[in-house]
Amino acid sequence: MAAYDVIQHSYDVVVVGAGGAGLRATFGMAEKNLKTACLTKVFPTRSHTVAAQGGMSAALGNMGADDWRWHMYDTVKGSDWLGDQDAIEYMCREAIPAAIELEHYGVPFSRTDDGRIYQRPFGGMTTEYGKGTAQRTCAAADRTGHAILHTLYQQALKHEAEFFIEYFATDLIMDDEGACRGVLAWNLAEGTLHVFRAHMVVLATGGYGRSYFSATSAHTCTGDGNGMVLRAGLPLQDMEFTQFHPTGVYGAGCLITEGVRGEGGYLTNSEGERFMERYAPNAKDLASRDVVSRSMTIEINEGRGVGPNKDHIHLHLEHLGPDVIHERLPGIAETARIFAGVDVTRAPIPVLPTVHYNMGGIPTNYQGEVVTLKDGNPDAVVPGLMAIGEAACVSVHGANRLGSNSLLDIVVFGRAAALRCAELLEPGGRHRELPQDKVDAALDRFDKLRHASGNTATAAIRDRMQRTMQTHAAVFRTGDSLAEGIDKMDEVIRSFADVNVSDRSMIWNSDLVETLELDNLLGCAVVSISAAHNRPESRGAHAREDYPDRDDEHWMKHTLTWLNTQHQVSIDYRPVHDYTLTDEVEYFPPKQRVY
Ligand code: FUM
Repeated sequence: MAAYDVIQHSYDVVVVGAGGAGLRATFGMAEKNLKTACLTKVFPTRSHTVAAQGGMSAALGNMGADDWRWHMYDTVKGSDWLGDQDAIEYMCREAIPAAIELEHYGVPFSRTDDGRIYQRPFGGMTTEYGKGTAQRTCAAADRTGHAILHTLYQQALKHEAEFFIEYFATDLIMDDEGACRGVLAWNLAEGTLHVFRAHMVVLATGGYGRSYFSATSAHTCTGDGNGMVLRAGLPLQDMEFTQFHPTGVYGAGCLITEGVRGEGGYLTNSEGERFMERYAPNAKDLASRDVVSRSMTIEINEGRGVGPNKDHIHLHLEHLGPDVIHERLPGIAETARIFAGVDVTRAPIPVLPTVHYNMGGIPTNYQGEVVTLKDGNPDAVVPGLMAIGEAACVSVHGANRLGSNSLLDIVVFGRAAALRCAELLEPGGRHRELPQDKVDAALDRFDKLRHASGNTATAAIRDRMQRTMQTHAAVFRTGDSLAEGIDKMDEVIRSFADVNVSDRSMIWNSDLVETLELDNLLGCAVVSISAAHNRPESRGAHAREDYPDRDDEHWMKHTLTWLNTQHQVSIDYRPVHDYTLTDEVEYFPPKQRVY
């Protein structure tokens, strides 16, 4: 192995990722006098949170009666009863102070006539436990993620957190007792390698949408934290649950916010029919995302898609009028013009369900601590390791996330992680020696990939992985097509042994970055498709045509998936938390999920 001069750092906390979750955690830690470093592979305000459009849910009641317990009920139902109810209670209750806190930090929310935060309806959000439509989603026009991310970055700069920008974290450093002690990272601009020791490493690395061919996710959404966790011998949870957003621009995949339907937009098929009235007679176009995506797919499969190939659906907002569009949905008007050539004041947008969000990820409790199954304990904490945001599976979204619960998740659990660290850590605590064999193993992997001299380009392997996931782990799945997908994925993973990295340089080596990212994506993809094959029921976003019903008797449990060094997947389970944190609300037992 080549010798590298590794630069050493010591912090109380190292946060990996500077999207909304990472930034909220970072300055929350710094506020508590913990010496904190935030490592990010892109400039913070380029993180994928910037792309969130429609808003953040919180039962503020600015536009009519609301209650965080109704929000909790909607989230449990949206999750198809796979969400952990203690964590959902925590998130929905904390949503209200979290929204006010963001307002005080300076997020430029849209306003009502009397100056309060504007809130729009979103899918699956109801009043009175399903009876009415809630206006619960706090919006900054259709650029809410942009507004929140920039505000959080400004807050982070106010505190004494240190940023390591364009540093790619490659591996966790775990000790022999199974505790996380730090992380190895590569400085892309200077070409140096760094070991960051920390009493707590917080993974806030986002989702792995780019394991699919068509996704609303940024190209940087490559499951880096998830990949590190799998290599550390820890499991990922509920990886079979991938959300397809109903309205990605046909062909381009860019997001068209659910806020369009919240403002009164609707979907039609080739017969001009508002078909959602048949599938969800009450909520119609504002049913939850899994329901709308399946309904659109059925319309297309039954020959009622629009366009020359009858392979997509129309989203109308012409009737809203230019004033509403320009005030509330200006970004959408621009996206539709650029990516679909459509003037939304005159014509519908061509749309298609597109991969958008990963409900699964690194299992944690509601305080952000990573958990694993150990000695029969399903909630055993992994010392020194936290995960938050889309990288994590808390699990507040269960089998299907409700729109606008994601911006909420990142701020609530980013803050929760900081609060927990303040309880657990003494600022400036002494660091023990790092296990050098683990540092060497991480350096060795980096060096091997840097010098990979096979015959297959990274892009070719990535393309095969993405097409396999798109075809075999789609909106509807069957056991046969998933089994075929697993075989193909096995070949794809084996082909990674033949990868070629043509650029050996340590500085701005995008070939090596993409290869490290692909390694992470491959781990996520193989456990996702294996978990999907392993679950013979339909629940939330996991729709098995061969098992169309939900099976609460056998499958109301979280799937845990491990990946060994031979790329073999093993599976076990954790129970769903069927209890609440306080007596302020009772457990919501499962029932039929209709909208
Ligand atoms: O449709 C949207 O604006 C997306 C929001 C979300 O995924 O929460």
